[in-house]
Amino acid sequence: MAHRVTIIPGDGIGPEVTAATRLVLDAACGDIEWVEAVAGARALESHGALLPEATLQAVRDCRVAIKGPITTPVGTGFRSVNVALRQELDLFASVRPVRALPGVPIRHPATNLVVVRENTEDLYQGIEFERGSPEAAALRLKLHELAGFDVREDAGITLKPISVAGTRRIVRFAFEYARANARRKVTLGHKSNVMRYSDGLFLRTFLEIARDPTIRGDVEIEEIQIDHLSMRLAWEPEVFDVLLLPNLYGDILSDLCAGLVGGLGLIPGANIGWEYAVFEPVHGSAPDIAGKGSANPIAMILSGAMMLRHLREPAAAARMERAVDAVLAEGRTRTPDLGGTSSTEAVGHAIAEAVTG
Ligand code: NAI
Ligand code: MG
Repeated sequence: MAHRVTIIPGDGIGPEVTAATRLVLDAACGDIEWVEAVAGARALESHGALLPEATLQAVRDCRVAIKGPITTPVGTGFRSVNVALRQELDLFASVRPVRALPGVPIRHPATNLVVVRENTEDLYQGIEFERGSPEAAALRLKLHELAGFDVREDAGITLKPISVAGTRRIVRFAFEYARANARRKVTLGHKSNVMRYSDGLFLRTFLEIARDPTIRGDVEIEEIQIDHLSMRLAWEPEVFDVLLLPNLYGDILSDLCAGLVGGLGLIPGANIGWEYAVFEPVHGSAPDIAGKGSANPIAMILSGAMMLRHLREPAAAARMERAVDAVLAEGRTRTPDLGGTSSTEAVGHAIAEAVTG
């Protein structure tokens, strides 16, 4: 049976890496029916919205989408399209595997971990009050009345809600993921000594669920304050396996982890909910190199391989991953971020050829 997949090219380098990814996916699995949809700057022009309803509907119809990065206009009152998409489709789990790749010299060659990030709550839920707005003034007054908290008059305010229900589902997801993928340990990062009622709740809920042997299996657990975890990741990343993180820390540390294994051009990602899944690279739209045809498509290609696994095409997914490894190991066809001179398109073609060859 053919798989129907929504494809969203996105902004900046998005269309370039998306074209290369589509080529490789078609080579690996001849069975994909593409449903094209737009989001981001292009969508604003053609549909008058950054995230048109038609695009959301396409993803709901197909249940699976692959997307390029989308530029978030800064300071114009636009909500991030990515955050909106994750919330609209309730894609509560972000999964980002970080492993050393052949032929990419790095300091810690044994690095092989997966960042599992809560994707809907925390400081990214989008509950914000602009400095000087009547809402911010009302909130400051309320905070003073409620508990004597004094927030400066010229402050902008962002709230950090973390719920038991929201934490439970991501903790269960992390254990399920660990067990299904033969991972031995889940490490939780938090700052519960400072943020007792948000991070503290995240930690307590984790420990409570981990007591249930039917959920945890024989997966080891560990909890570390987020600042110390950052140091340890730079120092000895190979000791970590699954990292379970609240939204903001997950965003920051997945870029850090990308840096451990050769950069943003290599790290794939998935956003998963009960009903829908959207696959995308960790990197953004890279305006500094957009239009030059020099972006590394591997992060999005590996996101495509994760998508094939989700579609229960593990053999095709493995073919794609082996093809990426083969092209990297051979070393002739590489984009500039990896010290090469090849174009996005050339890397896409080389990987597509390695898939079929
Ligand atoms: P970025 O990830 O776009 O770029 C950071 C640096 O990494 C740049 O120097 C860029 O050239 C390089 N880089 C990124 N991807 C690369 C690739 N595939 N090959 C080679 N080099 C690559 O992050 P930045 O600059 O902070 O964000 C740019 C825009 O992207 C912003 O509007 C941001 O909001 C958006 N963004 C979107 C995301 C998404 O759609 N999921 C995720 C992250 C950022
Ligand atoms: Mg990010």
